[in-house]
Amino acid sequence: MIRIVTVIGARPQIIKAAALSRVIASDYAHLISEIIVHTGQHYDANMSQVFFDELGIPAPDYNLGVGSGTHGKQTALMIEGIEKILLEVRPDYLVLYGDTNSTLAGAIAASKLRVPIVHIEAGLRSFNKSMPEEINRIMCDHASTLLFSPTATGFNNLVSEGFKTNNLAPYTCDNPGIFHCGDIMYDNSLYFAGLAEMKSGILAQWGLNQGRFILGTIHRDNNTDIPGRLNAIFSAFDRISREHRLLVALPLHPRTSGLLAKNLTPSVYNSVKENPLIRVMPPVSFLDMIKLEKHAVMVVTDSGGVQKEAYYFSKPCIIARPETEWVEIVDAGAGIVTDANEDGIIQAVNYFLNNPPLLYPPVFGDGKAAAFICSTMLEQVRV
Ligand code: UD1
Ligand code: UDP
Repeated sequence: MIRIVTVIGARPQIIKAAALSRVIASDYAHLISEIIVHTGQHYDANMSQVFFDELGIPAPDYNLGVGSGTHGKQTALMIEGIEKILLEVRPDYLVLYGDTNSTLAGAIAASKLRVPIVHIEAGLRSFNKSMPEEINRIMCDHASTLLFSPTATGFNNLVSEGFKTNNLAPYTCDNPGIFHCGDIMYDNSLYFAGLAEMKSGILAQWGLNQGRFILGTIHRDNNTDIPGRLNAIFSAFDRISREHRLLVALPLHPRTSGLLAKNLTPSVYNSVKENPLIRVMPPVSFLDMIKLEKHAVMVVTDSGGVQKEAYYFSKPCIIARPETEWVEIVDAGAGIVTDANEDGIIQAVNYFLNNPPLLYPPVFGDGKAAAFICSTMLEQVRV
């Protein structure tokens, strides 16, 4: 029996953890004991608890209750809390997801205590170090012992940074093992798609008709906090909805909804607010989100997870960022990177309305990433 500590904190990590916890419960309960630590980075019920309730994730064994704050303060409080737990539990592995401050804090705490780190979603790069996530993921990857990359591009990025493909077990942080295992979020999309169809009433609730709305999500700090960029994106939503008579569904991260009044110009703010075709909503549950993604005509987003889910449900995606880590989506012709460019977003919408992509090649694995990760962890002996 091995003991793992999983650190989660932000919404997408809670969702990703559902896939691993589910496989542990169904196939590995006699071999893997999982202790869940929630840093409290996300804390609103619709950013955290809803996912535990809906996705069958075990309640966290620890909640650090760190909450929001500056990067330094937030990360420091997390490191302190995680260190204490690692000293108490002495796990065989610390499991980390993605690239948030919770990921970084876990990586720092575990590496100092020589607890081997398992990094799920390793190797992704934007090559833009002004993103806090880029620093977090590079630092986590380079402190990890087992690195699981969702894509061939991620795996190749690790190789470019000096990770070796021919290291042999037993793996350590000086002799790490890198694996291309597919995307754990794909496991979830496959698992929950049917359930979302049956259970979610989100379309009726917001008056949305199948195939007759655009789904948008915006939350990156460089979009929400820079007024010119936020204006460009919301002005694009406003114009698209009016020009095409298409509804735009916007489940907004609290960071974004909190900044609309401050960072939009009065004319864009009022135009969006008075536009009957724009449905601004609070963050929705994962089943509701899947339902929205499945039935939208296309997606406009700066989210990493939402880009991939659009692809899983064969929806074209407009990426309101200067670049993407998920280059396979763009290479397949199913994504266009427009950045926060008003005319660029509008042109991309027009393009996809007239030229919907026909093919979505299976570049994110087979939906069995969580099982692969569990079996690989078990094959390794702690050193
Ligand atoms: C974080 C991650 C980002 C990820 C995103 C997923 C970092 C540096 N960023 O960004 O990579 O894509 O989560 O959603 O870790 N807030 C609330 N309620 C909450 C949580 C946040 O109101 O439950 C508001 C607070 O005003 C807070 C702001 O959102 O200051 C930002 O939250 P934070 O967790 O710092 O960053 P995110 O933008 O969510
Ligand atoms: N998501 C959700 N409700 C929402 C918005 C997003 O359940 O209102 C899910 C989405 O389906 C995906 C994940 O949250 O699984 C993506 O998280 P987010 O966009 O916050 O972060 P990122 O993936 O960019 O780090």
